[in-house]
Amino acid sequence: MNKPFIAPSLLAADFANLQRDLELINRSEADYLHFDVMDGVFVPNISFGFPILEAVRRHCQKPLDVHLMITQPDRYIDAFAEGGASVIHVHYEACTHLHRTLTHIRQMGCRAGVALNPHTPVAGLEDVLEQIDVVLIMSVNPGFGGQSFIPNTIRKVAKLKQLLAANRSSALIEIDGGVSQKNAPALLEAGADILVAGSSVFGAPDPLEAIRTLKDGHQP
Ligand code: DX5
Ligand code: ZN
Repeated sequence: MNKPFIAPSLLAADFANLQRDLELINRSEADYLHFDVMDGVFVPNISFGFPILEAVRRHCQKPLDVHLMITQPDRYIDAFAEGGASVIHVHYEACTHLHRTLTHIRQMGCRAGVALNPHTPVAGLEDVLEQIDVVLIMSVNPGFGGQSFIPNTIRKVAKLKQLLAANRSSALIEIDGGVSQKNAPALLEAGADILVAGSSVFGAPDPLEAIRTLKDGHQP
């Protein structure tokens, strides 16, 4: 099994010490910084937007994995691409013309991601797989950090892995929500490539060690 890519979620950082926490991520084995944008409409919470992105970009040396939990994401793709995103995830449930949206993300020079809420089946992606670089499976209902992992996610990852193989897709599988050192081994076994982790990294006594153990797929 390959080592997973790890994407610590900024949502769980200490915003009063943002520079300190970003420098910690820079020193870590993390592969991305996960940047959660919530609009208070698509999800029942509001997080942060462009001013924070600009500050993060000045201090963060890891590629930015931007997760748009917003309605009408097409309106903001150019701004996030120009703001430094490497990957832009839009929600399947928020896109009327998903093929067009994903094509647009790639045209802006970013990798195209599609996020699926826990109730959204993976089968709906079959006809747009060629446009997808990453599938982000939500393992909680999006909107808040620190929620409990939904166990059915493991089965869903395995189903997605099969769908990708059957269509010769090289899209990566990313998991977001309640990911910890406890469920990481099963997720990796089922086929996950990228693990997003908020509380289990920033809430750990030693975040660098937490990232390392997630990467190694160890139980604590
Ligand atoms: C949830 C966000 C997640 C969140 C993960 O809506 O999309 O990225 O920050 O945080 P944890 O790992 O604490 O569940
Ligand atoms: Zn997220």
